[in-house]
Amino acid sequence: GSRVGFYGEHQAGIITPAQHFLSFASFDLTTSSLADVRQLFQSWTEAAAAMTSGDLIGNSNNNLNLPPSDTGETAGLSPSKLTITFGVGPSFFDNRFGLAGKRPTTFGELPKFRGDALQTEWCGGDIGVQVCADDLQVAFHAVRNLARIARGTAVLRWMQDGFQRTGPADPSNGTPRNLMGFKDGTGNPDIADAQAMKEIVWAGSGDGAAWMKGGSYLVARRIRMRIEIWDRSTLDDQERTFGRHRDTGAPLGMRDEFAPLDLNAKNTAGEPALPMNSHSRLAHMDGATKILRRAYSYTGGMDAKTGQLDAGLFFISYQRDIQKQFIPMQQILAASDKLNEYIVHVGSAAFACFPGTRPGGYIGETLF
Ligand code: HEM
Repeated sequence: GSRVGFYGEHQAGIITPAQHFLSFASFDLTTSSLADVRQLFQSWTEAAAAMTSGDLIGNSNNNLNLPPSDTGETAGLSPSKLTITFGVGPSFFDNRFGLAGKRPTTFGELPKFRGDALQTEWCGGDIGVQVCADDLQVAFHAVRNLARIARGTAVLRWMQDGFQRTGPADPSNGTPRNLMGFKDGTGNPDIADAQAMKEIVWAGSGDGAAWMKGGSYLVARRIRMRIEIWDRSTLDDQERTFGRHRDTGAPLGMRDEFAPLDLNAKNTAGEPALPMNSHSRLAHMDGATKILRRAYSYTGGMDAKTGQLDAGLFFISYQRDIQKQFIPMQQILAASDKLNEYIVHVGSAAFACFPGTRPGGYIGETLF
């Protein structure tokens, strides 16, 4: 169907198959009252439950004497698999709300990585909301209405839309291609494998904080592609950058997209089939450190300063433990990845995404 259930042990939008569009919003709190924060999450939970069901928010949508409780642009539209996933950033645990003692021990600001060119306007936030849907109007509507509900309590800090090819454009539902033309997501763990998701994605009560049990830690990186440089590099160079064939997505030297990476394989020249500095090889690490990637392509249109395209990958990953999973991986990539010739990280944020809730409860209830 076109509806993804909002309630459950885990929040939707994490191991949910990626919808076609993303609207990611980062908010800063303007209150210092924990009661206000609780009220915000209660109102957001109610609104999110309504929107993900395809209903308008609130019950004053027909009163001529009031501004309607929902802004209305999704009236009559299908929920389009809308999911809304909430988390809090490291700054949420500073002194404002008396929650410093509740900060998960494994969760803090990300370290600076080699090559980072972060711009503050794309970084951080007290609260992160990942909105995904198969329709961009539906996704945008959710962010807009959450921001509207937050008035007086929280303000938008930054927002980024993202896209993948849509279902109608690819009825075979193959792995989506990123803006470098390569299939992106092939090596991801299987979201249908509950045991793998438990090991890789879902925080247990020992993963930083008991209140995070059933939640997951999110890393977002706005990674700009140096498109003009990439577009001038040869196919051979491009394939050696990822260690995969562009056409099939298969590891270099193989035919099947899903053939396992063989780090010992040699090509006819006797060299490693997967170049030592290729992205897949380095990100694979020892084969035991894994993350769940849920990335979208983005464009901010044209960069007015240079006339070049502002476009790239809005990287999102979910993991049980950012320190054990994302950070060591990104340290290796930052140091040696051939892909670094063609990309630059310009935005960064981390959010502790709450466990799910039941009807009558609210997102965040295990923390505040
Ligand atoms: C694999 C693209 C950044 C982690 C891949 C693949 C592509 C790709 C095409 C091969 C297909 C696949 O397995 O999905 C990109 C692009 C990036 C980027 C274009 C930036 C613009 C990152 C970052 C991380 C990462 C920042 C994590 C720190 C991985 C992992 C794999 C992978 C874990 C799978 C490795 C394996 O097969 O075990 N990426 N990636 N990528 N990437 Fe990235």
